[in-house]
Amino acid sequence: MITLNVNNRDVQVDVESDTPLLWVLRDTLGLTGTKYGCGMALCGACTVHLDGVPTRSCVTPVSAAADRKITTIEGLSPDRSHPVQQAWIELDVPQCGYCQSGQIMAAAALLEQKPRPTDKDIDQALSGNICRCGTYQRIRAAIHRAAELLTPRATQSS
Ligand code: FES
Ligand code: FES
Repeated sequence: MITLNVNNRDVQVDVESDTPLLWVLRDTLGLTGTKYGCGMALCGACTVHLDGVPTRSCVTPVSAAADRKITTIEGLSPDRSHPVQQAWIELDVPQCGYCQSGQIMAAAALLEQKPRPTDKDIDQALSGNICRCGTYQRIRAAIHRAAELLTPRATQSS
């Protein structure tokens, strides 16, 4: 048995210690918001947070996630109220949607580190998250919008 803390809840899972975290999340715990794309740390579809750091769950053995705080897209907010989710909805970012959980998790981690990221910061932070549908421009715009929602600029007086 391995004890994990997933979305602020302790759970015990009966799996081999080298099982990829992605399969434990999806198959054992039913958290299917995290997607399988390549299985080789090349696409970012499986991105979750480990202690707040965006991590490719497809290549992370579950044993490496024990005693750490795991956050999946389901745990980002209980009701899609996280500013990144709000911005994604407002700007209608997804196309097919497959990559978007990973994009959102990468974006949320970036904004924790840099509340006002530049285009370059965004491109660097999300360079490993591939979108076959080419939603990159909307992703970038949505991250700027989420930054505004997180830290609104003071209203300028004329
Ligand atoms: S499925 Fe993990 S990076 Fe592609
Ligand atoms: S929205 Fe289709 S792969 Fe990104």
